[in-house]
Amino acid sequence: MSGRVEGKVAFITGAARGQGRAHAVRLAEEGADIIAVDICAQMPGVGYPMSTREDLDQTVKMVEGLGQRIVAGKGDVRDRESLAVVLDEGMEKLGRLDFVIANAGIMPVFGEESQQMRAWHDCLDVMLTGVLHTVELTYPRLIKQGTGGSIAITSSMGALTPMMRTEGKHSMGMLGYTAAKAALVNLSRNYASFLAFHHIRVNTIHPTGVNTPMIHNDMCQDGFANANPEDLKTLVNAIPVNAVEPEDIANAVLWLCSDESKYFTGSALRIDAGASLR
Ligand SMILES: NC(=O)c1ccc[n+]([C@@H]2O[C@H](COP(=O)([O-])OP(=O)(O)OC[C@H]3O[C@@H](n4cnc5c(N)ncnc54)[C@H](O)[C@@H]3O)[C@@H](O)[C@H]2O)c1
Repeated sequence: MSGRVEGKVAFITGAARGQGRAHAVRLAEEGADIIAVDICAQMPGVGYPMSTREDLDQTVKMVEGLGQRIVAGKGDVRDRESLAVVLDEGMEKLGRLDFVIANAGIMPVFGEESQQMRAWHDCLDVMLTGVLHTVELTYPRLIKQGTGGSIAITSSMGALTPMMRTEGKHSMGMLGYTAAKAALVNLSRNYASFLAFHHIRVNTIHPTGVNTPMIHNDMCQDGFANANPEDLKTLVNAIPVNAVEPEDIANAVLWLCSDESKYFTGSALRIDAGASLR
């Protein structure tokens, strides 16, 4: 099947690399145009390399390579105005808005920095307030357009299951990450409730570990290498894979955007390789 989102436009945060890029590419493969935003900069409290402008340019290249249009710009989800600049330009050039993928995130959960209160605040600022900004900015436009829509919010399995079994894995960053991701479930259900009247669906996505630069970096490698074996029992997949691929999550995002899921809203969609069975 192709053209499942033909002629539609998706706004994606954190689109420079990883899952955000995979969402842009998968939606473009099925006929959507893309508005892509990413911070393309390092946040001082994050102990692994974040994205660069070159990463975002690569996303542009890949979407254009599929024959679709893309408007991409730097923006920080903590700063609603910076998102608005990219969204305005995108909607002006592409003419509409149908899907919102609130995907941007950070994971400052290991190392010295993760023990600071800054890690807690950064997590809530990016992954809770940042999602609020993304949805607040976009849902009125979807209502005004009057053709329904789909808002997919990237949470995590860390929202649904404890991520620490011993104090060894305790950090302000880990608490902030999981608290923000859990709060998104409630945020999403409230938006879903009042937007249902407009045929605008809102759901959270809960991936298990995904093979992206967020987990493939020195910070995580050291964190896992030094972990208490008891803590390695958190988030163990029942289907025997260490992690899933960004494309596996992108396929779920595509389904959430397509008409195939037109009555699916207010839900928490786990793509967890069965981790919640363990
Ligand atoms: N990788 C995993 O194992 C995993 C598992 C579950 C959930 N998630 C979630 O999936 C989402 C995507 O992460 P990923 O795995 O692709 O990691 P990633 O680090 O490759 O991508 C995240 C992107 O978000 C961008 N970003 C971070 N802060 C931003 C900000 N303030 N404003 C704008 N952009 C910002 C980064 O620059 C980066 O390009 C995140 O919300 C993450 O928490 C990841």
